[in-house]
Amino acid sequence: IGLADASFMGSGSERRYEDLCRNIISDMNQYGLSVVDDFLGMETGLKILNEVRSMYNAGAFQDGQVVTNQTPDAPAVRGDKIRGDKIKWVGGNEPGCSNVWYLTNQIDSVVYRVNTMKDNGILGNYHIRERTRAMVACYPGSGTHYVMHVDNPQKDGRVITAIYYLNINWDARESGGILRIRPTPGTTVADIEPKFDRLIFFWSDIRNPHEVQPAHRTRYAITVWYFDAKEREEALIRAKLENSKTNNLAAQAQAQQAEPDS
Ligand code: OGA
Ligand code: OGA
Ligand code: MN
Repeated sequence: IGLADASFMGSGSERRYEDLCRNIISDMNQYGLSVVDDFLGMETGLKILNEVRSMYNAGAFQDGQVVTNQTPDAPAVRGDKIRGDKIKWVGGNEPGCSNVWYLTNQIDSVVYRVNTMKDNGILGNYHIRERTRAMVACYPGSGTHYVMHVDNPQKDGRVITAIYYLNINWDARESGGILRIRPTPGTTVADIEPKFDRLIFFWSDIRNPHEVQPAHRTRYAITVWYFDAKEREEALIRAKLENSKTNNLAAQAQAQQAEPDS
């Protein structure tokens, strides 16, 4: 999906927008992550929350899938899931998703801006013109969580993870659900509460292992991943090669079956 060319929150806020982008650039370079509070304001945030609630209540969510490889010898604890969220992917402007769509456009315009601003440090190493669809996620309480993981351990093209939270009056002492990031190298941790109208960014690769601690209340988040054009292209080429290798092997096997040695 190409980045939308949204104008950020209409006119009159150019100065605030500029400051916001400068802060994100500075945080990403210094810490590898950045937290923006009050991203869209109460009214817009509520529209998004209500839309997400309706989507969830309509029952269109599925179990979050783990795409990364699991170590085969990892102890499989019965009933202990790697991730307990329910998700729905939102691609374009599907019916009933216009507020999620609006949100992703706003995030796009921030990412585009910080990627193209002068003196943006590490961000300047990337060429970000595409992203994934938006993943709307619900941890339905009851201790659901997501174990420590890296979003992109194998250079699949995703370089920035952006997450927007929708949880009014979240109290982590009562409800858990903290996003804990353990930047590598280093011994510090960042504990991020999934607060309403909070937007966060972090590098998607091994620099940022992270987990969602058990949530005891319904916890909503919307995530998009931004691709670096070069890393993405290389990943797609690799995938194609792998595919044709697999197909060749399958074809050979079939051919051998068709002509058994006599
Ligand atoms: C993922 C992912 C992309 C998509 O599963 O983590 O990036 O649009 N998916 O389905
Ligand atoms: C993920 C993830 C963090 C969060 O979906 O990959 O790490 O705070 N989510 O919801
Ligand atoms: Mn993650």
